[in-house]
Amino acid sequence: MTEHDHSPAVTILDDAAAASEEAARVIAATLRDRPDAVLGLATGGTMVPVYASLARMIAAGGIALARARSFNLDEYVGLPPDHPQSYRHFMNTHFATPTGMDPARMDLPSGIAPDPQAEAARYEAALASGGPVDLQLLGLGGNGHIGFNEPGSSAESRTRVVTLDPRTVKDNARFFGPGEEVPARAITMGIASILAARRILLVATGPGKAAAVRAMLRGPVGPDCPASFLRRHLAVTVILDRAAAADLTP
Ligand code: F6R
Repeated sequence: MTEHDHSPAVTILDDAAAASEEAARVIAATLRDRPDAVLGLATGGTMVPVYASLARMIAAGGIALARARSFNLDEYVGLPPDHPQSYRHFMNTHFATPTGMDPARMDLPSGIAPDPQAEAARYEAALASGGPVDLQLLGLGGNGHIGFNEPGSSAESRTRVVTLDPRTVKDNARFFGPGEEVPARAITMGIASILAARRILLVATGPGKAAAVRAMLRGPVGPDCPASFLRRHLAVTVILDRAAAADLTP
């Protein structure tokens, strides 16, 4: 990481399906080069087709996750691993089951640790001893967040307990049933924890991400758009569909 502003490599594809396939190819190439890779993984709607494409590539042969390990970005505070909206449950359903990865090789913050601050510290220490992450996969919040680093997050932030932005609670309510409350707090890797990865791959699709994509790539680097801090990293690839790239006028 440096203080300079680097331009991420940006690939724009026709639609979310093509963007997801391209992202899966990047993950597959990492595993081919380094079968014992440490992957940084994300949850959310954007990742569902990415993981489905990766599972198809694994089923086709030539790459495997048997020797890989992973760390996820975040988890809701208060949700047990078997809660359908917990990120552990998401990862079991959308990643471990279709790809055959052993869930014991996948680390996530625990949502039910009695002391969430201590759990955040445990997770940061696990990242430091198990890392560096070879490839960190990221989605993008409509408000410019990465992980659950909401606007206002500092470049030096590490894994910690955060309160979710009202916009994030609203955006994520679609995954919860009617009357079911979106947790207000989460444990998230910090900006500095994310930027410690050797390589970063951000995927954003759909019109709801266009303004955040523009702020990330063209706006000032700073806490108003946490994803803009990615421009301090030397090896960032951004994969977009046309809808998410719509505000990037040449
Ligand atoms: C998920 C995460 C979030 C999401 C972002 C986009 O682990 O950390 O930053 O990547 O909120 O979510 P979707 O893909 O649902 O639009």
